Amino acid sequence: MLVDTHCHLNSPQFADDLPEAVARALQAGVTQMIVVGYDMPSSEEAVRLAERYAPLFAAVAVHPHDSKAYSTAAEARLRELASHPKTVAIGEIGLDYHYDFSPVEAQFAAFRAQLALAQAVSLPVIIHCREAYRDTLDVLEAGDAQGVGGVMHCWAGSAEEAQRALKRGLYLGIGGVLTFKNAEALREIAASAPMDRLLVETDAPYLAPAPHRGKRNEPAYTRLVAERLADLRALTREEIEARTTQNARRLFRRLQP
Ligand code: NI
Repeated sequence: MLVDTHCHLNSPQFADDLPEAVARALQAGVTQMIVVGYDMPSSEEAVRLAERYAPLFAAVAVHPHDSKAYSTAAEARLRELASHPKTVAIGEIGLDYHYDFSPVEAQFAAFRAQLALAQAVSLPVIIHCREAYRDTLDVLEAGDAQGVGGVMHCWAGSAEEAQRALKRGLYLGIGGVLTFKNAEALREIAASAPMDRLLVETDAPYLAPAPHRGKRNEPAYTRLVAERLADLRALTREEIEARTTQNARRLFRRLQP
């Protein structure tokens, strides 16, 4: 069995075939999926889906892109959603310097506020980081955030940044990019990082692994990421499944069979 630790089944791209996408995932041995929120409506939807489908769990938060909409009202509602037994994390939160959808100051403020929220509700965080590794790790290493566990989802940083993240106690989320031709640096990190700190994910509907690159991604393709990881680590499929699932359940404590 596998856990897709990061997907967006709450995206409009799954509006027409959500039950089929979940069925295909189960068929592929992906028995649990974390549906990650990126704004208030998608966080509400993540919890609704987790209530409706046994294999689905929720993460709730406001994404860096939407940070300028972060408010005390949003935070109060996130706190309520976080108390749901199937909410396993606060996420995705972080910093994104690639797109300019929210000013950097607003991104920092929302990131710090949601780290504090995670601390207060005793949940781990799912970190989104794009072209902002130094600042993101600075925030996570700061004294008041140190008690918060988490995963750097869709890892795309350097080997040095990976060392920093691992030293901070964070997990690395490995997604479909692992299968891309030009992803040699990521493959080296995935091959050499401690096996007890790796998680697999899809980030569906984005970043579909080969041979589906460029098409809509879906949780069933976690299997393709796991198979590539098994090759890189010279482990069997069963070992990769067992290890990454164990890791997911260690980090996301509410994610139980
Ligand atoms: Ni995502």
